[in-house]
This record gives sequence, structure tokens and C-alpha cells, in this order.
Amino acid sequence: MQFKRILVTGGAGFIGSAFVRFLLNSGHHAVIVIDKLTYAGDLARLEEVKGKYKFYKANICDKTKIDSILKREKTDIIAHFAAESHVDRSINDATPFIDTNVKGTQILLDASRKNKVGKFIHISTDEVYGEIPNGKFSETSPIRPNSPYAASKAAADLLVQSYIRTYKFPAIIIRPSNNYGLWQYPEKLIPLAILRILDGSKVPVYGKGLNVREWLYVEDCVAGILKIMNKGKIGEVYNLGSTQEGRNIDTVKLLLKTLGVSQKRFEFVKDRLGHDIRYSLNSNKLRQKLSWKPETKLAQGLRFTVAWSLKHKVWLKSKLKDINRLYR
Ligand SMILES: NC(=O)c1ccc[n+]([C@@H]2O[C@H](COP(=O)([O-])OP(=O)(O)OC[C@H]3O[C@@H](n4cnc5c(N)ncnc54)[C@H](O)[C@@H]3O)[C@@H](O)[C@H]2O)c1
Repeated sequence: MQFKRILVTGGAGFIGSAFVRFLLNSGHHAVIVIDKLTYAGDLARLEEVKGKYKFYKANICDKTKIDSILKREKTDIIAHFAAESHVDRSINDATPFIDTNVKGTQILLDASRKNKVGKFIHISTDEVYGEIPNGKFSETSPIRPNSPYAASKAAADLLVQSYIRTYKFPAIIIRPSNNYGLWQYPEKLIPLAILRILDGSKVPVYGKGLNVREWLYVEDCVAGILKIMNKGKIGEVYNLGSTQEGRNIDTVKLLLKTLGVSQKRFEFVKDRLGHDIRYSLNSNKLRQKLSWKPETKLAQGLRFTVAWSLKHKVWLKSKLKDINRLYR
């Protein structure tokens, strides 16, 4: 392994924590985590690797603190996951999205330049491309974000690209599709559906459930990110999708079947404002150049997620109050 010291921002979040566990379980020993521990951050996700990583509770918007951490830690690589990540919350209030996703990213970029970080892995999203009723987005498709969340992520991508061009900054941008799996905060469709069933209520489905998402099991996602981190080309963008597309209504019905409850345990609710109809990625670059492919089919990933959720009911239900506030 060429690089040893890896700093993960947002490492107490859903995908960031899966990445930290994956790194530590595959032999990387110097892992540093920065996380503000917002409502979405939870160190319980890192319980199984407790003591094996160094943790800083820090806001990436705090320039002085970020500078001093980077100076002290002399990191070779930064994997930047920290973000406000939920579209519905961005529709309610875009301010923290601009703060963390745009300003926070800029602060990290400058601190990384100053402290000569060797590689910056920027975690973006398929949502920066906007919606695509037919066909697939490639890495060269134009960026046309539709939600405040997607716009803030797109702004961050453009900043990263400007640093690559202006300063020859050693960054790689990764655009994953919709993730699901263990430890996902139950505001997102799949864990929200599981929480509602555990709570004895119905699963809310936006509109008529016709929106299509490309479902990527989180363990496949972090395996892809590690591959890109180790073998990807500096300055490039990589799409990271599963090709496992599903209409929300079909995904929810498959989930209800996996949970062993009635197919009628859902209800259509007023659609999300500006709801993108479909996302779909062409991830051939990653598959062909770096030989990555997802291992987990949707039905299997849902089985793993349901089995895990049943074992972690207490954790899921501990978020119920916040979810009821969000969707009251
Ligand atoms: N979840 C998905 O389906 C998905 C898909 C594509 C891309 N992404 C991107 O992947 C990344 C991780 O997503 P996730 O689902 O794990 O998100 P998450 O909301 O579960 O976790 C985000 C983490 O960032 C931390 N954080 C937020 N603001 C911070 C700040 N100012 N300073 C430091 N830490 C802060 C939170 O405490 C939390 O631990 C994000 O950049 C997101 O845009 C997510």
C-alpha cells in the first residue's frame, strides 16, 4: 500500500463509517476521522472498530480547527464524505447545505493544499446530473442539479474541479448512486420504510411511487471507493452505480415481502417538491478501467438490511422522534 495515513471526513455517517470499517478490516491502520456529529452522525456505527482509529469532533467549516488537525496529522489522503445529505431537509432549509457542502468543502480544499495532502477523494453524488427519464449519465454529462441538496453538491464538485485545474490539486471525484444498507439514518426511503413497519404504521411513498433510483449496497460502494482511491487517476471523475434500478413502489413492495408483512402496508403521500423522476449512471469507466463490479443484488442487499435492522431495532427507534418531527 502506497499511502498510510487516511483522514475520513463524515466518518460517523452512514457511508463514511462503512468506509472506515472497510479500511480498518482490510489492513489500513492509520485512520483519522473528523465528524461534527450532527443528527446524522453517530459513533455507534464505529463501535466494532473502537480504539483502532483516531477521532476529532470537528466542523469542517471551522477553518482554524481543520488547519490545525491537518497540520498535526500529516495525512496522505483525505476521503471527504462529510455533508448534509438529505434532499427533504434541503427543501426545508438550504442554509446548512450551503455551509457544509460548499463552504466546508472549500475550507478542506484550502487546508489540504496548505498541508500538502497527497490525494483528495471527493464524494459527490449522481444527483448532480439532475434527472434522466431515459438513458444513462456518463462522467462527461452536464451538471444540472435540481434540489438544493444536489445544487450544493454540484457547487462542491465545481470547486474541486477548479482546484484541479488551477492548482493541479490531486483530487478525484466519485459520484455514487443511491446507497442503502446497515446503519443508514432512517430518513432515507429504505430504512424509513423499515422503521415505519417496526412502528406499526404504513410506509409513505411519494406521488405514485414511479421515481426510479439505482440502488447500490453500501459495502459495494465503499469497495468501489477504495479501488478508486488506490488505483483511480488523479483529476478524473468516476461514476459508481449498480445498474440495479427500481421504481420506488417496486422497491417498497420487495422490502415489504422481505419483511414478511402485507403488500398493502404502504400509502401514497404528497410528492416531494421538484422530485427527480429517474437517476441512472453509466459506470463503465470504473468497471472497465479499474475492474470493479457490485457483488450484491437488490433482493439480497434488502435481506441483509432487514436482518440487520431487526437486530438493531433499538437504534432505529431511537431516531423516531426526529423522523416524526421531519415528516409531521
Ligand atoms: N446516501 C446516499 O445514498 C448517497 C449517495 C451518493 C452520494 N452520497 C454522498 O456520500 C456522502 C456520505 O453520505 P451519507 O449518506 O453517509 O450521509 P450521512 O448524512 O449519513 O452522514 C454525513 C456525516 O457527515 C457529518 N457532517 C455533517 N456536517 C458536517 C460538518 N459541517 N463537519 C463535519 N462533519 C459533518 C455528519 O455528522 C454525518 O456523520 C455525502 O457526501 C453524500 O452527499 C450519499
